[in-house]
Amino acid sequence: MSSQPKNIVILISGSGSNMAAIVKAAQAQDWPRQWGARIAAVISNRPDAPGLQLAQSLGVVTQVLSHKDFDSREAFDAALMALIDGYQPALVVLAGFMRILTPGFVGHYAGRLINIHPSLLPAFTGLNTHQRAIDAGCRQAGATVHHVTAELDHGTVLAQAVVPVLPGDTADTLAARVLEQEHIIYPQAVRAWLQHQP
Ligand code: GAR
Repeated sequence: MSSQPKNIVILISGSGSNMAAIVKAAQAQDWPRQWGARIAAVISNRPDAPGLQLAQSLGVVTQVLSHKDFDSREAFDAALMALIDGYQPALVVLAGFMRILTPGFVGHYAGRLINIHPSLLPAFTGLNTHQRAIDAGCRQAGATVHHVTAELDHGTVLAQAVVPVLPGDTADTLAARVLEQEHIIYPQAVRAWLQHQP
């Protein structure tokens, strides 16, 4: 293990349940001792994101950088990069971070930027994934952890979970079934990523 801690920065926009699953796994499995890794900060682009309080209750440093304070996507992403880089991250984890990122941002973190998306990619990139899966008559749905590239919801798949689409499912019932699996595969994928780092 190198003496330099592997800092993980998690970006959120909303409830932060995936973030909490990762933080709890890091605590329960003692990632600092096992992998020299720690959750250095949780950053939200929304000041009212419930995930901020959740992170604080788990003892994690939080920061807010509101995109509304910036005139352009490029200006926000530049400020976000500066904030993130203050933590010298080994890995940046998008966990319900609902922003389209500029190619400059994605390129800056190439190879150390991952995301979870609530569909079986490459199916259903973008929004409203659960309703679209139901409307398409899919028998199965799920979630994907993937490397982030400049193209939205593309990039190498790191982990996937599959759930059935059941008769009578609504977008909400399907989303809840998928989210339960997200909370399993995202911490696993982060840990697997750490295991493969020198
Ligand atoms: C999760 O279902 C995640 O897959 C999705 O937002 C939700 C965030 O929940 N992400 C995207 O749609 C990204 N395109 P959380 O804030 O409770 O982790």
